[in-house]
Amino acid sequence: MSALTRSPAWEALARHRQDVSTLHMRDLFDADADRFNRFSLEACGLLFDYSKNRITEETRSLLLDLARQQDVEGWRDRMFAGERINITEDRAVLHTALRNRSNRPVMVDGQDVMPEVNAVLHRMERFVRQVRDGAWTGYTGHPITDIVNIGIGGSDLGPVMVTEALTPYLHPQIGVHFVSNVDGTHISETLEWLDPETTLFVIASKTFTTQETLANAHTARRWFLESAGDPAHVAKHFVAVSTNEAEVRKFGIDPANMFGFWDWVGGRYSLWSAIGLSIALGIGMDRFYELLDGAHAMDEHFRTAPPERNMPVLMAMLGVWYVNFWGAKSHAVLPYDQYMHRFSAYLQQLDMESNGKTVDRQGARVDYATGPVVFGEPGTNGQHAFYQLIHQGTELVPADFLAPAETHNPVGDHHRILLSNFFAQPEALMRGKTADEVRAEMAKSGKPAEAIEPLVPHRVFEGNKPSNSILFKKLDPRTLGALIALYEHKVFVQGIVWAINSFDQWGVELGKQLAGKILPELQNGPTAALGHDSSTNGLIGWYRKHR
Ligand code: F6P
Repeated sequence: MSALTRSPAWEALARHRQDVSTLHMRDLFDADADRFNRFSLEACGLLFDYSKNRITEETRSLLLDLARQQDVEGWRDRMFAGERINITEDRAVLHTALRNRSNRPVMVDGQDVMPEVNAVLHRMERFVRQVRDGAWTGYTGHPITDIVNIGIGGSDLGPVMVTEALTPYLHPQIGVHFVSNVDGTHISETLEWLDPETTLFVIASKTFTTQETLANAHTARRWFLESAGDPAHVAKHFVAVSTNEAEVRKFGIDPANMFGFWDWVGGRYSLWSAIGLSIALGIGMDRFYELLDGAHAMDEHFRTAPPERNMPVLMAMLGVWYVNFWGAKSHAVLPYDQYMHRFSAYLQQLDMESNGKTVDRQGARVDYATGPVVFGEPGTNGQHAFYQLIHQGTELVPADFLAPAETHNPVGDHHRILLSNFFAQPEALMRGKTADEVRAEMAKSGKPAEAIEPLVPHRVFEGNKPSNSILFKKLDPRTLGALIALYEHKVFVQGIVWAINSFDQWGVELGKQLAGKILPELQNGPTAALGHDSSTNGLIGWYRKHR
């Protein structure tokens, strides 16, 4: 058994889990009119209601004991202080420095990184102003009308999610597009509508060696040069965001058109760095700073609030409660805001690439579950698709419901209808519907008694399904910044509790290596030898015959 599962705080929770196994949230609410106040808090413009969880005050205090036992506060302080907590890559983890609006010095290897961070922000600011004002022109002298961000993973998901979420703030004359997939369809469909004279490409890649991004970037350059002809024009239409100046140069982008960042920024935590350039080009630098401000406010909350009033800590520990003590395997993220339609896709990388790990920091195999499968869609669409399983399926699926009080698009009654669903779903999940309630409801609708009974089991909702509700005034840059940082810190806290390294992603390497080996094999004739397993050989063989 691991040290964690043998530890006093873990064992106390395991015992407590037995004690509360028959509690129903419906009864907890009925017994305590103050439950909402007891289990909710506000910070950074977010109301976090976690009262609809299978918890009592004792549960919360035992969960916080576990957080303390695992030294969450110590690790948090080490992260903020720039210690090399990403042990397998020997790197600091300092996305918080990128939005350190206090400008407090942040030291890495005895050097304050804030002057460099601010210098890049200032360069971004100048460039963003020029492009948005029309002072930066394409090779024929016309202002830029379209930005194409080419990147994948963290160099795409953050920028695309934020740009979509902040659509109301976008420049009215500049379109922002994202190409990530190496499937040629993605770039072809994007370029089809664009004019090379007025298109600016942002090639975003931390390493600048990512196969998909380079393939798309080369295709974009070929497309551009078909019109522009002279490679000297590339300078006006291609900028790079990367940590790798040598590769940027090799690709043919002048380092003068490169915006740098540092190895202590993880890909999935990089939207706050120059990787956010496409966001800033879309919404403007002032709004980008507001995004950073919101995240910084959440950083300060996470750094200073006591655990029992600390939103990321509470959110993380509730997740641990379900994953490790109730066997939950997934977690749903359900934003009731169409602009947040890429939020769960973004969180999938943040959470699953961070905490999808099987060994602890020492390399020993864990004997407990780590990160859940994260999924979600905006409400109310998800209600008509997968919510059935959450309500009546056999899996326990804890969920986060998110919504703004105010909409950017006050059309008729839409927002009230949306919010009525936002309020109804967590209530329905929590309360459920008993057999007696089903019988009474059906009798009232005039169904004869003999027709009612066979239907009762199908119509019963067990309830007691846990959820968090997060409400905020409006989806603006500051609020979005705080929300993203909330989830980042949640994932961090869980990684610390599980004693894993949340900051590497070796799991994506094997597939990349094998793809590199297979690529040349795809050019060979149908009978050329293959050295894989029979399934892979069979599939490649079929492809060779049918291509
Ligand atoms: O898929 C692995 C990964 O390294 C992600 O962590 C990263 O966000 C993505 O690839 C893109 O990497 P890069 O920014 O170096 O192109």
